[in-house]
Amino acid sequence: MERVNLDGEEIIPLTICLIGGGGFIGSHLCEKLMADTSHKAIVFDNHSDKINHLLDQSSPWRDRIEFHKINITNNSRFETPIKASDLTINLDAICSPYQFKWEPLDTIRDNFLDAIQVVKYCTESKKRLIHFSTCEVYGKTVSSFLPKDRDLRQDPEFYLLKEDASPCIFGPVIEKHRWSYACAEQMMESLIYAEDAEHGLDFTVVRPFNWIGPRMDFNPRVDGDGVPRVFDCFNNYLLRGEKLELVGGGKSLRTFCYIKDAIEAVLLMIENPKRANGQIFNVGNPDNEVTVKQLAEMMTEVYAKVAGKSAPGSSTTDVSSKVSYGEGYDDSDKLIPDMTIISKQLGWKPKTSLQDLLEITLSYEHQNYSKSIKKALCEIR
Ligand code: NAD
Ligand code: UGA
Repeated sequence: MERVNLDGEEIIPLTICLIGGGGFIGSHLCEKLMADTSHKAIVFDNHSDKINHLLDQSSPWRDRIEFHKINITNNSRFETPIKASDLTINLDAICSPYQFKWEPLDTIRDNFLDAIQVVKYCTESKKRLIHFSTCEVYGKTVSSFLPKDRDLRQDPEFYLLKEDASPCIFGPVIEKHRWSYACAEQMMESLIYAEDAEHGLDFTVVRPFNWIGPRMDFNPRVDGDGVPRVFDCFNNYLLRGEKLELVGGGKSLRTFCYIKDAIEAVLLMIENPKRANGQIFNVGNPDNEVTVKQLAEMMTEVYAKVAGKSAPGSSTTDVSSKVSYGEGYDDSDKLIPDMTIISKQLGWKPKTSLQDLLEITLSYEHQNYSKSIKKALCEIR
């Protein structure tokens, strides 16, 4: 059946190169491309665990998706595929604050230096690029610097994050390595913008705001090492019956967006180039704002519902950022996306409430991880 875009134009099947397409967002995007479109996906990543179900010989989409296992750093194997594709989507990144803090060199290399190659190949071949940046480029809000007793702090003008108006405010970037990633992505955005201004690169930049769903990050000591982002940290504490650690008391605010809603926005960008080119889009759910402490409480309640029992010992405990992340950690105080541009250009709005997205995601986590974590805990004892 013929599919049409927002302007009623027929959607022609594209060949799409996905750099870093084997991760959390990449896996959901590939699923969407396979199930709902006729586009072809060429995926580059250093692992395929999250898309193996699409690559399997029995998969109905096997002839529309290919996977190439490569380390993108210092590798030009993706030059020819980028130049032969219609569109490249760059999802490759190190995206855990623990790594920004402890591996700032790798963070800058992966998120900036490696990404330069991708931009260069797109510019040289006059191919379109969708680059994944981050809401973290906004850093801290203006309101966080205003005196605590002023009503101005409550005025959205000082905290709502707008692509074309908000300043990007980081802490001291030399001592606070937390900002290595935000600096790298901000520079990347400037470089992409300059490529458009000087060489006519067709680009779209996406700034995701805390997308959550099945297959996010990893469960430490089961299928990964290190410290994942907050959802998987809390999920792991719940599955292990440990206390949920609230960094600095869990006062920071985040807005969480369900991955499947967000993927709808990305598909609109792919299929509506005239509306998406030259734009930077916030993609998040401003209605799902909570403090990290409230997130911990909600996840504890939802876990009890999906597991049919309360997590043993699942209370919260306050920890300092120095204990959790070491010296040099800093934090965004509040991340609420302004939705004017995406709603005007693409008519997109998120649908899923925080309660619903936590139920879906924690059910998935419980089904997939509770047995392996129980087994790992028995082996330790
Ligand atoms: P992810 O970690 O699941 O995906 C990144 C992928 O890049 C991984 O599969 C990883 O293996 C791959 N990769 C990294 N370095 C590589 C290398 N040197 N060689 C080969 N592969 C490499 O993270 P994600 O949540 O899917 O994020 C995708 C993009 O979106 C990233 O650019 C991230 O910064 C951005 N982003 C995501 C969120 C979110 O809410 N999930 C928020 C802000 C920004
Ligand atoms: C991370 C990425 O680094 C950003 O680039 C990305 O934009 C963002 O996720 C996202 O998903 O949109 P951040 O939200 O700060 O940024 O990272 P998390 O590790 O998920 O932390 C969220 C908050 O929870 C922080 O205040 C952190 O201190 C806190 N936290 C984290 C805890 O209180 N306890 C934990 O165990 C882990």
